[in-house]
Amino acid sequence: MAQINHLAIIMDGNGRWAKNQNLKRVEGHKKGANIVRDIVTHTRRLGIKNLTLYAFSEENWGRPKTEVSTLMKLLVEFMTSERKTLLENNIHFHPIGNLDKLPPFVKPLLKKLDRDTQKDSVMELNLALSYSGRSDLVNAVKNIVKSNINPKDITENTITENLSTFNFGKDVDLLIRTGGDKRISNFLLWELSYAELFFEESFWPDFTTDKLDQILSDFYKRDRRFGLISQ
Ligand code: FPP
Repeated sequence: MAQINHLAIIMDGNGRWAKNQNLKRVEGHKKGANIVRDIVTHTRRLGIKNLTLYAFSEENWGRPKTEVSTLMKLLVEFMTSERKTLLENNIHFHPIGNLDKLPPFVKPLLKKLDRDTQKDSVMELNLALSYSGRSDLVNAVKNIVKSNINPKDITENTITENLSTFNFGKDVDLLIRTGGDKRISNFLLWELSYAELFFEESFWPDFTTDKLDQILSDFYKRDRRFGLISQ
C-alpha cells in the first residue's frame, strides 16, 4: 500500500467557480478560503504529516491590484480565525516562498504564527506564498555557491537541503490539482519528482473532504515503483 507523508495541493478554479455563479472573482477566493479550513483539519484527522498548499504564486503578483489585496486580506483573516484551531491541533503554520515581497500588514503576522505554532507540532501546514519553484531552486544554487562547497561534494541532498521545503517531508507523495487543468505551474519542481499526480475536475470552492478521501483511496492502491520493479 502506498504511504503518504506529504500531500501537496494546487488550489485552482476560484475565479471560474465565481464566474459560473455570476459572482465576482473575489467571492470565489472567499469560498476557497473556507475549503482550506476544512481540508487542513481533515488532513490533520487523517494523520498526514505534511500538507503544502499553493496559495499565491510569484506570477500572481501580476493580477489586478484589487484581487491581490483581497487575497492578502483573506490570508490575514485566515491566520486570525485559524490560530486557535492550529494551536489546539498542534499544526505548525509554515509559510514558504519569497515572503519579503508580501505587504507589511501580512509579514509580521506570518512570522508570529509560524513561531507560535512551532512547539510540539505533529503536522506541518506549509503555505506557499509568493512562491515559485524555479526561484526556490535559484536561491538554493546561490546558497550553495556562497557556502564555497567543493563541486565534487555536491549531491542531490545538497540541493534538497537548500530548498525552502527542507524542514519538512521534502518529497511530495501526492499532488492534487483542482480546476481541470493538467499542469504543475512552477510548484515544488524538485520535490515533485516522484509524486503521484491527481487532476480533479472540480473547482477548488467545490472541493470537499469526501473528494479528498476518494483520491486518497485511489492513491493507496497505486503501485509506486520509484524506477524499480513491482514487489
Ligand atoms: C486559484 O484560483 C487560486 C488562487 C490564485 C489563490 C488560492 C487562494 C485561496 C484558496 C483562498 C485564500 C487562501 C488562504 C490560505 C486564506 P484562480 O483564481 O486562478 O481561478 P481561475 O483559474 O478559475 O481563474
